[in-house]
Amino acid sequence: MKKFLSPVIISVLVISVILTLPFMLPKRKLKKYSDEELRQTALSRNMLPNPKTYKELLKIIDNPENHMTKKKIKLGKKLFFDTILSRDKTINCASCHILSEGGDDNLPTAVGFKGRKNPSHLNSPTVLNAALAKAEFWNGRAKNVEEQAGGPIQAHFEMNMTPNYVVSRLKNDATYVQEFQKVFTNGITFENVKKAVGAYERTLLTRGSYDRFLEGDNNAISQEAKKGFALFINLGCKGCHTGRSVGGQSLQRFPLRRCSSIYDLKCWFSSDKFPFKNTGGFLGKNDMQLFRVPILRNVIRTSPYFHNGAIKDIKEAVKIMGKHQVGVELTKKQVDEIVAFLKTLNGKIVDYKLGD
Ligand code: HEC
Ligand code: HEC
Repeated sequence: MKKFLSPVIISVLVISVILTLPFMLPKRKLKKYSDEELRQTALSRNMLPNPKTYKELLKIIDNPENHMTKKKIKLGKKLFFDTILSRDKTINCASCHILSEGGDDNLPTAVGFKGRKNPSHLNSPTVLNAALAKAEFWNGRAKNVEEQAGGPIQAHFEMNMTPNYVVSRLKNDATYVQEFQKVFTNGITFENVKKAVGAYERTLLTRGSYDRFLEGDNNAISQEAKKGFALFINLGCKGCHTGRSVGGQSLQRFPLRRCSSIYDLKCWFSSDKFPFKNTGGFLGKNDMQLFRVPILRNVIRTSPYFHNGAIKDIKEAVKIMGKHQVGVELTKKQVDEIVAFLKTLNGKIVDYKLGD
């Protein structure tokens, strides 16, 4: 009897210790910062303000393979808003990237040529600050905004054109012929269309109270937002949402932790890939659930959230990130603080005095 009991008792003891261990661990201590410490910590982690002047902009964002000039930017802007780039001349880039609406369309999934929906149910990301990203698209397949611009023009569910058709249409327009000649030695080509649009997108940077705080104005953001900023740094959100654009710098796995705790039985027994419905079935780069980390500048204005636009409420999006990306059940107060911080990322498109 004794021989039989002891292994049972030992196993029961071991299991109970394992199960109670998480409760006995000390709670993660969150560091408190003064305003200056908060600013310096952010700056040292590459969370930088956006440039105020055209000169600074060029230093940060010019593309050596497609130098920005004011004429090129002006041409790109005209193309961005011109429906000539879509087969039935009804859609322009701004149809899905409305600059006054946070640079996206506020729809769960993009709708293009003749009402066709994105086949993977993908949500339109913002074009604002997108030029600061290290890779474009939800799976990071384009290296910059110039390369990216060729995608929507050709996608049958977006603008549904071919490069040759774009070129022949533009060549039939005397004004475009002249404008392209002024900017490019080889005039109208599909590559040059992409270059002009890309140059314009490089000017679509926004600035708001967050930038002013980083530049030294302690009163630019509220106490609540500062607490949220500190949480954003302390909890590790900034590990992925970083850089000048507060995102867009890397591809990361999502969800990183499928279940937040060993007690979340519902989660362990479910086969769902995401904490929301997998509408569209998109699984990121190489189907590995690797996604280009979204840009959080202006995020308050880009609902719905996530690659398939499954979540409407920013608070819900933040809770999901807490649980699945950093392994913390955020309290209501913490969520409110983080959202107050995210609001400081709202900004206006900077007027770089491009003379138009
Ligand atoms: C029908 C809606 C639609 C149109 C029209 C459209 N886009 Fe998009 N855009 C999207 C969607 C959806 C994505 C994400 C697609 C993906 O990841 O595969 C996207 C992605 C982007 C991105 C990448 C942003 C990032 O952070 O990854 C940029 C930049 C962009 N579009 C610019 C443009 C430009 C320039 C045009 C015009 C030439 C354009 N878009 C036309 C819907 C649209
Ligand atoms: C390990 C990397 C990682 C960490 C850490 C992380 N995120 Fe994210 N975040 C992502 C990825 C990847 C997505 C996009 C997932 C998708 O769309 O399927 C995302 C999406 C978001 C979105 C939705 C944005 C949109 O436009 O759809 C918000 C808001 C957000 N994160 C906030 C946070 C906050 C707040 C924290 C800290 C509590 C955090 N993230 C931590 C990688 C991360």
